[in-house]
Amino acid sequence: MRRLREKEPVRNLVRETRLDTANFIYPMFVTHGENIRNEIEPMPGCFHTSIDRLHEEIDEIVELGIPSVLLFGLPPEKDAVGSGAYDPEGIIQEATRTIKERAPGLMVIGDVCLCEYTDHGHCGLIDNGKVDNDGTLELLARSALTQVQAGADMVAPSSMMDGQVRAIRETLDAHGYDDTPIMGYAAKYASSFYGPFRVAADSTPQFGDRRSYQMDSANRRMAMREIESDIAEGADIVMVKPAMAYLDVIKEARDRYDYPLAAYNVSGEYSMVKAASRAGWVDEKPITLELLTAIRRAGADIIISYHAKEVARWLRGAE
Ligand code: PBG
Repeated sequence: MRRLREKEPVRNLVRETRLDTANFIYPMFVTHGENIRNEIEPMPGCFHTSIDRLHEEIDEIVELGIPSVLLFGLPPEKDAVGSGAYDPEGIIQEATRTIKERAPGLMVIGDVCLCEYTDHGHCGLIDNGKVDNDGTLELLARSALTQVQAGADMVAPSSMMDGQVRAIRETLDAHGYDDTPIMGYAAKYASSFYGPFRVAADSTPQFGDRRSYQMDSANRRMAMREIESDIAEGADIVMVKPAMAYLDVIKEARDRYDYPLAAYNVSGEYSMVKAASRAGWVDEKPITLELLTAIRRAGADIIISYHAKEVARWLRGAE
């Protein structure tokens, strides 16, 4: 076997998996207010950006050749029913208009969930102390519709309510948006790896946790049922989230379903790499490329990652 490992050209020739900037989605945090571009403490290199300064980051992303962004919003006010999520003039809707004006070719994906917009921090409506599944569906559908009306190219429901993909598909179709794809956060686990994101998105649940709607990390077969039901409801792309600790789930989803498969390399995975490399304990570039390559090797077509900008730079050999 060492004949194939002796020289770089041969190693390169027989390499089975490659990273390509074209497969990356970069998540962004858009905040209310003006003239804001603040680095998010637990996520070095990621920023809270106000709409008036979005162009700085958008120009950079376009220049790097990253094809799409996934938008999360920090609204000026929160309430019990997450009104900011489906306000036609809401933070994501406005950000989408701004981005599409600046860079019409950049794909904008709207994350569809209520947790950034509810004062209780849960991903759905609360009824008698519980997260109400069916009552939430209409609000998710309205969120998706207003995002698409603002110019979003795709929507990504992440609240883990049963039936969310179908509700959104029906509403988009009824309004003439039958050509807008849905990327379902199909197998989304209740994960401790979301910690830094909840700081970034100000979306920590104010009571309880998300285990009544997000998946138990011990379950692999149930992830297949989640993916199956997203596909049956009309998802065009399915997702496994988080990625690094769930490569087995990615692999099995790849083997079973011939649908485009996305993996979300989440905030905690990013922050761990950043922290260890800042301490000088690991070498950031090779360890990041190794981890992301493993996600592709397991079978993901698409990687949603906060490392996307760095990867784009590394892949074109500029750094
Ligand atoms: C919203 C949502 C979350 C993430 C993406 N969409 C947080 C959560 O479920 O608590 C996490 C992303 C990350 O950690 O990078 N529901």
